[in-house]
Amino acid sequence: MDDLRGVRVLLGVSGGIAAYKAALLARLLVGAGAEVDPVLTAGARRFLGAATLEGITGRHVREDVWDGIAQDTHVALGRAADVAIVYPATAHTLARLAHGLADDLLTTTLLAATCPLIVCPAMHTEMWEHPATQANVEVLRGRGVTVLGPAVGPLMGGDAGPGRVVEPDEAHAAVRAAATSTRSDGPLAGRHVVVTAGGTREAIDPVRFLGNRSSGRMGFALAAVAAGRGARVTLIAAPSELPTPEGVRRVDVVSARDMHAAVHEVLDEADVVVKAAAVADFRPASAAASKLKKADGTPAIELVANPDILAELGAQRGSDDTPVLVGFAAETDDVEANGRAKLAAKGADVLVVNDVASSDAGFEVETNRVVILERDGARTDVPLASKADVAARILDVVGHRLTALDAHHGGSSG
Ligand code: C5P
Repeated sequence: MDDLRGVRVLLGVSGGIAAYKAALLARLLVGAGAEVDPVLTAGARRFLGAATLEGITGRHVREDVWDGIAQDTHVALGRAADVAIVYPATAHTLARLAHGLADDLLTTTLLAATCPLIVCPAMHTEMWEHPATQANVEVLRGRGVTVLGPAVGPLMGGDAGPGRVVEPDEAHAAVRAAATSTRSDGPLAGRHVVVTAGGTREAIDPVRFLGNRSSGRMGFALAAVAAGRGARVTLIAAPSELPTPEGVRRVDVVSARDMHAAVHEVLDEADVVVKAAAVADFRPASAAASKLKKADGTPAIELVANPDILAELGAQRGSDDTPVLVGFAAETDDVEANGRAKLAAKGADVLVVNDVASSDAGFEVETNRVVILERDGARTDVPLASKADVAARILDVVGHRLTALDAHHGGSSG
């Protein structure tokens, strides 16, 4: 697969034992067609010979800021990069990046780069869990940097725990995702993507409603990333404080029935429908016309079922399998079995299963950890990441499905 043809990747390597794996990553990137510029820190050079990377990438390995001063190496390298990845990223290099230091070629180059940056931490568990490292990682995440890993497993010196660098194929997938996000000729370009987001509200009386904890963050992130990839995006938003992402058309709704109507309004011209909203399954059978009064006693609220928008779309869809349907589910246990059952029940192509059992993922937080299940049996595990990164991985899957549909129908449908 030459899915990185024409993409220039800046491969930063810092000084950990995992540096040897950077050679494998370089091999994967080159094999996918990327042009790879390796930049090694002084520590990395003690673990990995520059000649190895030169042999694999066919490019000169830059050593330090004084190498090629006349060509203004750091600025040129930084500007040329379409994607930058630091693999492995030591605690020290994460700290330097978080604080904007520029004390070697790698950090100087990354300050000059405006492309997406991925860092893959690798260190002992204590160092990873140290508040200083965690704070640095938060700073980087807040700046839009993708923090990939660390994985859990054996570490140097017989230890084990979180701290292993992610495997080269996972890093390769992240580079591919970042490269796709910056390309305007990707599979989402020109497509109409409909995203629903937020938690619906079901009126009890003019001032009260039944609601849920969904903040809308995941759906808004999906809308933003899809727009960034050149899609025409309609965001059907249940009440949310979040600002409308740039380039996105927003339709505000309140209840499940409003959302149902708004989805059907745009359905004819949708290539993709992503149902990230938390839709109330039930609503009060009738909303009181005036505010319920305490003095009138405890009210009994009779509930009736709302339409299941996603299941209805799945059932109504024609044999051409368009639009691509993506649903969400929250599961606490047996993710695969419960997720597959829901995927089938809803008639969707993709089901994103949120892990709601942990406090750092799901509702009301900035990060998420999901499993992406596809109708044909594929499964993608996305480790804890920002909602923007999770959105990117979900839209990669959607992009592949659009490309496959095009191939099946013998041409572009959009
Ligand atoms: O059945 P469950 O609520 O777990 O399914 C969640 C998925 O179904 C989400 O994608 C959600 O947006 C969608 N859904 C819907 N209409 C409903 C309930 C859920 O579209 N009434």
